[in-house]
Amino acid sequence: MKAYNFPNMLEKEWMLITAGSDQKVNTMTAGWGGFGILWGKPCVFIFIRPQRYTYEFTERENYFSLNFFENEKKMLSYLGTVSGRDEEKIANANLNIEFQHNTPYFREAKVNILCKKIYRDILREENFLFPEIHQKWYPKKDYHIVYIGEILEIVEGGKE
Ligand SMILES: Cc1cc2nc3c(=O)[nH]c(=O)nc-3n(C[C@H](O)[C@H](O)[C@H](O)COP(=O)(O)O)c2cc1C
Repeated sequence: MKAYNFPNMLEKEWMLITAGSDQKVNTMTAGWGGFGILWGKPCVFIFIRPQRYTYEFTERENYFSLNFFENEKKMLSYLGTVSGRDEEKIANANLNIEFQHNTPYFREAKVNILCKKIYRDILREENFLFPEIHQKWYPKKDYHIVYIGEILEIVEGGKE
């Protein structure tokens, strides 16, 4: 398998966060996240605001995936401005859902990281060490929920 520079890909091309079951799957664009090692496991770190529809899925489900594309910023802008509450975003973006390890991901993505949710927490006002960051990003106090996912598998895809 190719060695992927995920932080670089996230910065340049963004990613999708996808979660759900065979009943319903939702996805949204994310520009923030991390990749590393925690508790001896390869992990990802993602941040979701509570008003996102995707939040309902990441709360309910035990798994999620991160999906990376190339030259698809128009599609990711759509998936990152419209809510799955209002439109069938996945169908409108012509994405096909696959499942592995109970985790939904996209056939068309260049690469998918399949993750098991192992920790969640919510950012708290009292823990910000620099008030300017708090003021800039949380004037509405809609603190991100941070999820740590253990990487189960990396699945390569791409349009045939
Ligand atoms: C480039 C970009 C990066 C984003 N990054 C995040 C993020 O890291 N966390 C987050 O909660 N929302 C982020 N968003 C906003 C969500 O993608 C957006 O609100 C989306 O419409 C939510 O869809 P949903 O309601 O179907 O979950 C980002 C949007 C864009 C365009």
